[in-house]
Amino acid sequence: MRIIDLSILGAGLVVALTGCGRPETPAETRPSADRADEEEFLAEGQAVYQEFCAICHFAGEGDDRNPPMIGSAMVENPDPADFIRVILFGQSGPTVVAGREYDGIMPPMDWLSDEEVAAVATWTRQRFGGVETAVDAEQVEQIRADGPP
Ligand code: HEC
Repeated sequence: MRIIDLSILGAGLVVALTGCGRPETPAETRPSADRADEEEFLAEGQAVYQEFCAICHFAGEGDDRNPPMIGSAMVENPDPADFIRVILFGQSGPTVVAGREYDGIMPPMDWLSDEEVAAVATWTRQRFGGVETAVDAEQVEQIRADGPP
């Protein structure tokens, strides 16, 4: 009689432990790890921008020959596909950005890795376009594989 009672109690404990304790633990540890990854990714994007984009686009304001990032519809677009294409394949010919005409040449920068393009696109869109969603490397890989428009 006593043995049976104990085993019922034991089974109850196991159910209680697996039922309550488990799902919370990963959910609690995850966000901070994700946040650290996100900060690292943004820092990488900023570094790529400063090294390879700021030479023409400066701190986002552009100049007479190079369009600004601030106020660019492409930078603000929730769909990052065109932005990714410009980085990978370049852009030339007349264009209007933030109400002003430009007719220059941006060289293709397809030697950047998928992750570098994703990082710089994420940082630039967040910093200058107020777009919070991140661009992931798989999307860059896909657009690279599809080739120039
Ligand atoms: C050598 C100068 C140069 C560099 C380096 C450069 N760009 Fe550009 N970029 C330009 C020029 C010039 C244009 C406009 C081309 C045109 O007239 O069609 C442009 C256009 C763009 C556009 C399109 C803006 C719009 O709204 O149409 C985006 C976005 C952009 N650049 C982002 C970047 C990013 C991000 C980098 C770095 C990875 C970068 N550029 C590096 C010169 C440059």
